[in-house]
Amino acid sequence: MNVRHERMQYGDIKLYAGTACPQLAERVARYLHLPLCGRDIISFPNENLFIKLHGSVRGQDCYVIQTTSVPVHRNLMELLILMQTLRLDSAARITAVVPYLCYARSDKKDQPRVPITARLIADMIQVAGADRYITLDLHASQIQGFFSIPGDVLTAFNILTDYIRRKLPMMHSPVVIAADLGFAKKARNYAAALDLPLGFIEKRRSGNDSKAQALNLIGDVQDRDVIIVDDEIDTGGSIVQAVTLVRERGARNVYVSFVHPVLSANAAERMAALPVTEFITTDSVPVSLEKMTAFGERLRILTVADLLAEVIRRANEGRSVGELFNE
Ligand code: R5P
Repeated sequence: MNVRHERMQYGDIKLYAGTACPQLAERVARYLHLPLCGRDIISFPNENLFIKLHGSVRGQDCYVIQTTSVPVHRNLMELLILMQTLRLDSAARITAVVPYLCYARSDKKDQPRVPITARLIADMIQVAGADRYITLDLHASQIQGFFSIPGDVLTAFNILTDYIRRKLPMMHSPVVIAADLGFAKKARNYAAALDLPLGFIEKRRSGNDSKAQALNLIGDVQDRDVIIVDDEIDTGGSIVQAVTLVRERGARNVYVSFVHPVLSANAAERMAALPVTEFITTDSVPVSLEKMTAFGERLRILTVADLLAEVIRRANEGRSVGELFNE
């Protein structure tokens, strides 16, 4: 369908960004041939933040691009305060564009006396003034239900599988392996899109301190190239375990594909030490030069900027986003 929508329904697009992902925000702006709007973000000595917009947004369609990776609380507060500032300046519509949503792993009460922090984050985004949200590969799709505003939950699936597909001719009997059972359904989609067999790692976490243990491998990796898929790499614990396990079971070359390169603490160094041919990820979270250097040539970062930008354009024009994925 190639309908041209002349009438902007929500005013002009005004792109704002916090300080979390400047390169990604620039790329989105470049795709849309728009500037990032000026704003001051000042951090006082007591760590309180102050924001001032350089121009009026009255009656405009505003998008705040801000990923919520480390420093999580500073980045989250920038997002919230920016949106409140836009609301108080009479923006017509505000969309939170959050490529990586923090606290998404705290999505249920699976033991007594614990919070559901993802719900709290959703509430905060709405209270701050968001009319809509755009995000990417939520840890659990049910988090959509924590929002009572409409949103576009996008996926980097096509970006990642298109890239991997081009590598398949170089691989030997490749197989897709889900890094844990939580990612099993999505891993099945990877395997189906790539027309490959599928296996799973059964992983368990002991305690609440992020330590993962790969327990078992369901599937055959003997003498095969393996593509391990996951939504995010945080400490790298899961991937270290997964790579070790598939290698013990006879895997040849190992590829690791994940959407969000959270890469906390020394994850980059830990992963760079693994016998992995290539790490394939996106720019939903910025990777520092230092971390990139640790990975060297083996890290491939695919941009999600065009996807986010195209969805922003369609949202502004009141056009279907689903249609984008069928095109
Ligand atoms: C967990 O359930 C996710 O799918 C990832 O496997 C997890 O976030 C990775 O965490 P880490 O890198 O700390 O093991």
